[in-house]
Amino acid sequence: MSTERVDLEPDPREGDWLEANRAQWDERVPVHVASEFYDQTALREGRGRLYRIEEAELASLYPEGLEGLRVLHLQCHFGADSLVLAQRGASVVGLDFSRPAIDQARALASEVGLADRARFVHANVYDARHMLPEPESFDLVFTTWGTITWLPDIVEWARIVAWFLKPGGRLYFADNHPAAQVFDGADAATGLPVFSYPYSHPGQAIVAEDGADYATDAVLQQTRSFEWQHPLGEVVEALLDAGLRLEFLREHYEVPWRMHEALVDRGEGMWGWPAERWLPLSVSIAARAPRD
Ligand SMILES: C[S@@+](CC[C@H](N)C(=O)[O-])C[C@H]1O[C@@H](n2cnc3c(N)ncnc32)[C@H](O)[C@@H]1O
Repeated sequence: MSTERVDLEPDPREGDWLEANRAQWDERVPVHVASEFYDQTALREGRGRLYRIEEAELASLYPEGLEGLRVLHLQCHFGADSLVLAQRGASVVGLDFSRPAIDQARALASEVGLADRARFVHANVYDARHMLPEPESFDLVFTTWGTITWLPDIVEWARIVAWFLKPGGRLYFADNHPAAQVFDGADAATGLPVFSYPYSHPGQAIVAEDGADYATDAVLQQTRSFEWQHPLGEVVEALLDAGLRLEFLREHYEVPWRMHEALVDRGEGMWGWPAERWLPLSVSIAARAPRD
């Protein structure tokens, strides 16, 4: 594995970065569909669940449930979470730039009898407004776990989110905490992750050559990928500048994958520090479009 920081502020709608990332995600789809990490048994039995952070927070944001909500799920992968939301009665549009992901999402929707409530669109996030040309058409934009790291332009991302929300509509976002991304590897003596990257490196992409997959032991053929680190303040500022109002920003001490070797299994798919709350591992944000 190698990673380097490369000066790169690309066109968000095209370029080598987009093709490399897409090829890697295309390859991951069949691997993930067959994996234990993305086990779909509960979904197939009609009782799909999100991770406990989103479950608890959506329950408090929507005490009446999700029935009847129009949801846009950005970067929906092969649709498993989109279909969980549809199982709760929401009408969901999932969007992802991977063709195999969208094909699989449609097949899964038919299989679980939710094709009438879950539609899937094949598109780059930055082309979403062209693919779904109706503004202010969603009650909820939902995007979680491993999304904005793949997006070069966080300001434009926030504008797209805001464009789709109805007045009073809401963004729900949950992802790894950017502060936890400054570490890598493990110290030989302590086992703790080692400070390895700056928190902010504006105008630079992290270009990796790595065949590893976060969810499985698979070795990917498509090794090259491009990611961007978005400091938390910049994410919030982008949302505020796009006109949204912050409802909450919560830091969590667990994350749904083994981000660092030092993390221990906290149950229900979550991983946390062995003892103290050393540093937040994930963050969730709810933000609303104004009503007027
Ligand atoms: C880690 S997954 C999303 C997480 C989702 N919660 C899951 O685990 O099912 C990241 C997704 O982002 C998609 N993606 C990456 N860059 C994208 C882009 N520019 N436009 C649309 N989708 C993108 C990938 O195809 C992949 O399905």
